[in-house]
Amino acid sequence: MRRLELVIDRLSKSGEGVAEVAGRSVFVPGALPGETVLAEVPDTGKALRAELLSILKASLARRQPMCGKAGECGGCDWMHITENEQVAWKESIVTSALEHVGGVKGGTYEQRPTVRSPKALGYRRRATLHPTKGKLGFFGKRSHARVEIDECPALTDSLSALPRVLAEALGPSVKELEEARLLECEGKVAVSLHAKGPLRPRHRQALEALVRDGVIDGGVLVPGEGKGALETVGTPTLEEDGLLHRPEGFAQANAEVNRALVRHAVELLAVQPGEAVLELYAGNGNFTFPLAERSGSVLAVESAAVSVMLAQAAARKRGVGNVRFVQGACEKIADGLVKEGARFDRLLLDPPRTGAPGVGTWASRLLVSCVVYVACDPAALARDAADLVAHGFRPLALQVVDLFPQTRHVEAVLAFGRG
Ligand SMILES: C[S@@+](CC[C@H](N)C(=O)[O-])C[C@H]1O[C@@H](n2cnc3c(N)ncnc32)[C@H](O)[C@@H]1O
Repeated sequence: MRRLELVIDRLSKSGEGVAEVAGRSVFVPGALPGETVLAEVPDTGKALRAELLSILKASLARRQPMCGKAGECGGCDWMHITENEQVAWKESIVTSALEHVGGVKGGTYEQRPTVRSPKALGYRRRATLHPTKGKLGFFGKRSHARVEIDECPALTDSLSALPRVLAEALGPSVKELEEARLLECEGKVAVSLHAKGPLRPRHRQALEALVRDGVIDGGVLVPGEGKGALETVGTPTLEEDGLLHRPEGFAQANAEVNRALVRHAVELLAVQPGEAVLELYAGNGNFTFPLAERSGSVLAVESAAVSVMLAQAAARKRGVGNVRFVQGACEKIADGLVKEGARFDRLLLDPPRTGAPGVGTWASRLLVSCVVYVACDPAALARDAADLVAHGFRPLALQVVDLFPQTRHVEAVLAFGRG
């Protein structure tokens, strides 16, 4: 280890400050471009990841975080940066990943103005908590060490005090949980408790008491694998914008910005009446229903059983007849559609961080004319963009969306046309 004074010249793809030392990149979590910092730098290692000791010259973008836990909690890792700079760096993380990882140069596609979150805090309607020392908390910065949380200002008003309230209701049984998930939709709240082993009576009693007291509307009790059946309490299925959600399933974390995300992605796909759309990684139908309104039919593929069940229930409730939700791995199902010689007009996909290896083959063999790729990981987007380009697609427009203020996470939508 060496103590070095470093000048930070850029941010890495994962939002760490980067300095050059003797021709090697040194990653300094917590440091910002333009800053001079004192850091402890390891002598060897594949990636040199230094520990920030002190800031000798601070960036103008640095500010005092609004949460007392910001130094340790991994939830809001960019709270020390002003929102304008957060947005500018997110844009540059996406465009630089596209250029350097995907070979897609800036200027070869339209870059639309970034969608910003109207709320800097109080926007998160979904969170995953982990037990720690008899309480609940989030993972810490740069580690899986847990940070105890009583209240969280990033959560919506209905959820912000729930970490403390839920831990108190669970008492000592909190330590038997793997995790607890919180969900809020239109002011209603549901919680899922994921046990490490079998469910304990205290888990159910805690949720029942919270429902009785009007703190939550419902809950789901999920036993450890092979340790029994899932149970529900109260009304665990919530509704927002005509979509059905459950706390143990996926939901976009920022409801307000999600509406803009859906609007932009659907507009970029430019689907025409009568056309056939393939949607991969469809969740519980976030993009599916707006696509169904504008198209002839949508085939929506999703692996999580709970999401498919909710999507099918929402389709029945809304009387939507031109969508088919299929449960399964997209890779397998898309490969199967290619083998069958199926044809679609347009493809929308919203994969997890691992991306969608194979998307180039699917899009070209299924003969789609337009692909809209919704990405939560810029590097995966860039890799898959290169694959689409190699299969004859051309990036047309990029829409960056700031779904997660105060964090390094960024959502990007990239539309491709043929040739
Ligand atoms: C980023 S979420 C998007 C969900 C949905 N589009 C939305 O906006 O709410 C990704 C979804 O892909 C699903 N998923 C992950 N891996 C999958 C796979 N290999 N095949 C099908 N679905 C998968 C997850 O369950 C999750 O619902």
